[in-house]
Amino acid sequence: MKLMRGFVAVMSMALVPFVASADYLNTTFTFSNQTTTADTRVLLLPQFEGEVSEQGWPTGLSAETVRHLNRAIQAGDFSGKEKQQLEVIAPAGLEELRLLLVGVGAADSVTRATAEEIGAALSVYFNRVKSEQVLVDTRAIDAAEHNARITAAVAHGVDLRNYRFDRYKSKPADRPAQTVHWQVVNNSDAQQQYAAKRALAEGVFLARELTNLPGSDGYPARFAEIARQQLEPLGVEVTILGPEQVKELGMGSLYSVSQGSQHKAHLLVAHWKGSDDQPIAFVGKGNTFDTGGYNLKTAAASILLMQTDKAGGAAVVGAVKALAGERAPVNVVGVVPLSLNMISGEATLPGDVVTAGNGTTIEVGNTDAEGRLILADGIWYAREFFNPRAIADIATLTGAKVGALGTAYSAIFSDHDDIVATLRQAGENTQELVWQLPLGPYPNIVSSRIADMINTGSPGAQAGAIFLQHFAGDTPWVHIDMAGNALNQSASGIHPEGATGYGVRLLAEWAKLYSAQ
Ligand code: BES
Ligand code: ZN
Ligand code: MN
Repeated sequence: MKLMRGFVAVMSMALVPFVASADYLNTTFTFSNQTTTADTRVLLLPQFEGEVSEQGWPTGLSAETVRHLNRAIQAGDFSGKEKQQLEVIAPAGLEELRLLLVGVGAADSVTRATAEEIGAALSVYFNRVKSEQVLVDTRAIDAAEHNARITAAVAHGVDLRNYRFDRYKSKPADRPAQTVHWQVVNNSDAQQQYAAKRALAEGVFLARELTNLPGSDGYPARFAEIARQQLEPLGVEVTILGPEQVKELGMGSLYSVSQGSQHKAHLLVAHWKGSDDQPIAFVGKGNTFDTGGYNLKTAAASILLMQTDKAGGAAVVGAVKALAGERAPVNVVGVVPLSLNMISGEATLPGDVVTAGNGTTIEVGNTDAEGRLILADGIWYAREFFNPRAIADIATLTGAKVGALGTAYSAIFSDHDDIVATLRQAGENTQELVWQLPLGPYPNIVSSRIADMINTGSPGAQAGAIFLQHFAGDTPWVHIDMAGNALNQSASGIHPEGATGYGVRLLAEWAKLYSAQ
């Protein structure tokens, strides 16, 4: 009986439908310019630095309350500096059990990033105090345009931090069941700006979910089906090529990486046609697990967590979801070559030669340099079938990138100044920072003795980039190496522990900036 039950549980696990991220959060946000009638337990007041006084508080506070707050502000040294918090328990003369003053910094310099970080800190606070009804009175931020923008960014920060990956927990911890009433200057402005941020958050959640999926559950066909299920309802045109089509189209480089796995190569195409402009293409590395192949990752630490090797592809799917979700007026096509880098009697051998979709022959100098093999065909496919005005590829490509830049930046490579400038701006806006590394001069860096090219070379991050540049040809292109950025071991800021969803916000922002110029 016990065994039977175990069996049933395993079966049903496989059949559990993928949670739609729209239902993912258990929070409700309301935006109102009226005084709420809800029975709120926590009152939260954002405060500008140097402007912490009665003027910034709701009207009608009793003299008793004002006296209590002033004493607490003095005793707690609260100045309104960004991210500073002062909690007043049982504030005199108020129904609420807790009042939280939150510093947002100087009035004219509150950035999107700061507001999001503040929201993330609020998520932690809300979950700690377990309050079901929270009132956030933002009216101290009085210019209506600022108020809506900052409120939406704070709410976005709350959402981003609230995500958790719990589908494998037999008893998941309760998800935060809260209603947050945002008291704002103009409710329709705030509502509208938040709606776009909510779409963005759902893109990030989808990327995190895909990235977090263990290797044996997140194989190529499954990844593609999840993307289809999530994107088609938003009006995204989704095409999935199976292994036979990959082979028929000549994408031997993509095909070779999974030929040793029972899960063969796929190619996912997701087209959001929000305008009639020439499309922008995102090409994301969707290597659903990286064993290294016959150049096996033998160190336990290097093979563990290689389910996150699909994070570039997940970022592309998430960015397309975000843009479609907010009905952004941009034309973007996401292309995700999907592979599973495995060994078996049929796997690619080191030294084999494969032929890519554009006819280039490639010597596989190292089966662990598989990312560029699948991206080469992804980039070719994007050019061949979509004639994009620009291509951004994104991938957990090289350990060398982690050595050079760590995880505070991703590395970008491009010969196009307008792409670099807009991508840098997008990085600043979203705090998904990028740092440019050079594409040359590195003569013969990927020259092969026996084939047109080889998939290895030194320096390592540049070799990957220069290899890919060959497939981008004359299409304006950038390569984003996001190795190390896919996963956080512990929660920090807007990121809960686990997959970060890195790249979704960067790509979505970049598509808008680049389309607008
Ligand atoms: N997926 C890895 C890169 C990686 C390393 C991502 C660490 C995240 C964290 C990639 O496929 C890989 O194995 N790259 C090799 C290439 C080498 C064999 C030329 C590397 O960087 O060591
Ligand atoms: Zn890899
Ligand atoms: Mn590898």
